[in-house]
Amino acid sequence: MCGFFGIVFEERNGGLGQILNKAGERLSYRGYDTAGIAVFDKNSNYKIFKDKGTIEEVSDEFKFKEKSGYKGIIQLRWATFGAPSKENAQPHDDCKGEIVGAHNGNIVNTHGLIKELSENGHTLKGVNDGEMIIHILEEEMAGTGDFGKAIINTNTRINGDYAFIATPVSSDKMYAVKKGSSLFLGIADGYICASSDLISILDHTDKIIPILDNEYVEFTYDKYEIKSLLNGSKIERKPEINNLNVEEIKLGGYSHFMEKEIFESPQKFRNLLDVMEKHDAYKEAIKTIRNANNIYLVGSGTSYHAGRLGTYYFSKIDGLNINATFAADFIERYGHCIKDGDLLIAVSQSGETKDVKNAVDYFKKKVNGKVMGVVNVLGSTLAYNADIVLPIVSDIEISVPATKTFINQCGVFLYLATAYSGKGIDRMREIPALIEDFLRKEKEHLGKLAEILKNERDLHVLGYGIMYPIAMEGALKMKEVMYIHSEGMYSSEFKHGPLAIVYDNYPVIFLATSEDKDMIISHINEVKTRMGSVYTLAPYDKEIEEISDYFIPLDNAEYFTSPILAGIGLQLLSYLIGVKNGRNPDRPRNISKTITVD
Ligand code: M6R
Repeated sequence: MCGFFGIVFEERNGGLGQILNKAGERLSYRGYDTAGIAVFDKNSNYKIFKDKGTIEEVSDEFKFKEKSGYKGIIQLRWATFGAPSKENAQPHDDCKGEIVGAHNGNIVNTHGLIKELSENGHTLKGVNDGEMIIHILEEEMAGTGDFGKAIINTNTRINGDYAFIATPVSSDKMYAVKKGSSLFLGIADGYICASSDLISILDHTDKIIPILDNEYVEFTYDKYEIKSLLNGSKIERKPEINNLNVEEIKLGGYSHFMEKEIFESPQKFRNLLDVMEKHDAYKEAIKTIRNANNIYLVGSGTSYHAGRLGTYYFSKIDGLNINATFAADFIERYGHCIKDGDLLIAVSQSGETKDVKNAVDYFKKKVNGKVMGVVNVLGSTLAYNADIVLPIVSDIEISVPATKTFINQCGVFLYLATAYSGKGIDRMREIPALIEDFLRKEKEHLGKLAEILKNERDLHVLGYGIMYPIAMEGALKMKEVMYIHSEGMYSSEFKHGPLAIVYDNYPVIFLATSEDKDMIISHINEVKTRMGSVYTLAPYDKEIEEISDYFIPLDNAEYFTSPILAGIGLQLLSYLIGVKNGRNPDRPRNISKTITVD
């Protein structure tokens, strides 16, 4: 959802372009509609190179790597305000060529600002919300002559959730602001950098300072000051060492990050088991769940599906009800029901999803209850705002489609539900090997199924009971990676209307566990008798295999582990079909890894 990175050196000339380009590659999953850099020399000269296209395309066009300077900014855009075009690409400069900057997030009063700034005599080159920030800074600088004050005043004139970076052309200072969207500062010997994204900083330093909401940071190559956006007061915060492994960002022998991350799942699951058993937060989580009045759960997309599976685990293992809805629906659906003493479980890989943030903010404002964050990115907004943080320890996930993080989110819920009732979790130790065996044995079969399905434009994925969230997740992956219409449904619901869609060979993927055999056979027959084609993922069963057109066994899976294997099977299936159709699974069109807008 847009990403930026800015860096200040004392003197450096050569090499700046390479650093910016590398940061751009790290940020690439944040947006691929436009890309641009600004580079500055010590004589107050600057140049902006930007255009429509991916980081690779725009970098090739302008030879980013060859650019020099002592400070620079790069921005990658996922378009919301203004079409992807050169004019709307970032960074932007002001009318006088004195301020340059870029942002991430959404300035929701942009339309009003365009009118106001035009009336005030500004020459706007495009209609991008980031450009408005720079022109407001220009006005505020004219009024105050102090960049810090200009930032504080600018913040009162723009509405929305955002982070931005800006620099006066003739100063060696850079400023970065956080209000809603993520922002990190990296401290190294001889330079300081700021970015919307941790991983673009970790190439340079592991000394990280997360900047919190309503703060801004002013920095040169060797000094920084964090201040309140509300009143300018100073805030003391020291860097923390961040141990995220940047090696994860290499493809290794894989063709895409999505493939690599699917195959990393067993190891990440092992790491998760170790952490869950030792980490106090997991013990505290169980106590908190036990003491809560009502429990609510929110997440978006894949994270919501993992949470939905969690509600089945809690219900079936513990008889415990959790009210779950996708994050964007929380306020409307449960906002009037929540009470003091309730618990909100917020699930988010990035910890930055705006819909999740809205739900958490609303809950915290309205009631005196606890928020439990199930997050991958520690240091994210959710990790900071939650009372209890449950790390899913999947390490960096680069591919936009969530894969290994989904599996670990499911693992967190299986663990919590099992531990809640005081049951041992020994059987969970078998899961990584189960996944490994499944991937090894079934990759070829999934490849054959991918061949069968590769030209389909519509399909359904149906699951019963605990397979329902996986059906929704599988269908989401098909949409995201294959760009086709796919729908995940509860298998019993299919006969209440959707069955009318079925024509000769209409593809329906069924997901079954060993416990719903009779029900699933009945649902499969409803499709087969209408000449639909049935592809089934289930623990081996001769009868189900015989009535299916293609059968993928979930070998050795028990009832509670079947959804995890089916989930990974559908991830790999969508990946294989996507690649067969020439898609780049790591960067689905129109989508960004982190959705920081409403
Ligand atoms: O970072 P989050 O888990 O909060 O992201 C939520 C969704 O945007 C995300 O899971 C999305 O659905 C995935 N890209 C799908 O693969």
